[in-house]
Amino acid sequence: MDIVVSGIRSTGNLHLGNYFGALRNFIRMQDENTCFFFIADIHSLTTHPDPKSLHANVKNVLVDYLAAGIDPEKSIIYLQSDIPEIAELYLYLNMHAYLGELAKTTSFKEKARKQPDNVNAGLLTYPTLMAADIIIHHADKVPVGKDQEQHLEMTRRFARRFNNFYGVEYFKEPVAYNFGQELIKIPGLDGSGKMGKSEGNAIYLSDAPEVIEKKVKRALTDSGPKEFNSPKPDYIENLFTIMRVVSEPEVVHHYEELWNKCEIRYSDMKKQLAEDIIKVTSPIRERILEIEKDDAYLHKVTTEGAEKARESASKTLNEVREIMGFKPF
Ligand code: TYM
Repeated sequence: MDIVVSGIRSTGNLHLGNYFGALRNFIRMQDENTCFFFIADIHSLTTHPDPKSLHANVKNVLVDYLAAGIDPEKSIIYLQSDIPEIAELYLYLNMHAYLGELAKTTSFKEKARKQPDNVNAGLLTYPTLMAADIIIHHADKVPVGKDQEQHLEMTRRFARRFNNFYGVEYFKEPVAYNFGQELIKIPGLDGSGKMGKSEGNAIYLSDAPEVIEKKVKRALTDSGPKEFNSPKPDYIENLFTIMRVVSEPEVVHHYEELWNKCEIRYSDMKKQLAEDIIKVTSPIRERILEIEKDDAYLHKVTTEGAEKARESASKTLNEVREIMGFKPF
């Protein structure tokens, strides 16, 4: 039985990138593995959210992923901030994380560019907190999208470094996981490389069908290919990439052929794409509308989850403290 850990930052509702990049893999793993899924609300502090909106954002993410199929009967679901042992392990791991390696992380460089007035130490040490999240439960596998690959590499490095420094075989080296396939990246609808919460190019699991139709209709296209079998520009390839995850293979093939023959009509393709996205999101949206009303259920899920997660985390912390040389008098 493998141990699986995954998380999502509480910075807004979940979109198709989150769902196909990380969540769907996790959902499939719940029956055969010991699964931990958490909301990374401490990570979200790196972008300084308004305290008044923090709780509502955490609730949105919690509701979205329960609705998407994360099952509290099978998995351990909790908030990162409910497990103080994570913050403690983060502190210890930071003693062995170096400025040079942290500063050259892609996500750090990107964030530092986006928020030049707020290049805080939490942003710099984001990967050590993420490593603590993962190795605190001795994870084997971490279902994530392509953008988290480097963070997983750093997690392995920090685990290995701890073992080497203290001369133990204690932490495992977890892998980013997608059922033996490549990790995926869902693109945005605006021709940009990645669908993201802060990019304003996302389709959310909670979007109403009319909203999805409108968003897909607005996606960037052009006047169509002029030559047979011509390569697709990125913004068109993006539509096909989304289609490959939501539509049947025959449907994708049909539109590929039309593209190759220069007979594609984007309005038809978009109509089909919106329909197939709605097929994925509408049952989830229905459950969202129910679960969000049930505060007693959300309370029960998160308190029970925190209790179980703390059991696993505090065992690790006791062992880590001992390995590091802390001793009671
Ligand atoms: P976050 O909140 O940015 O994204 C959550 C998950 O969704 C995936 N994802 C995507 N996958 C494919 N295409 C996209 N356009 C796309 N956008 C987002 C992300 O790869 C991620 O798997 N650092 C993490 C949160 C985290 C975490 C962890 C994850 C903190 N600690 C421990 C796993 C284990 C993050 O920023 O996720």
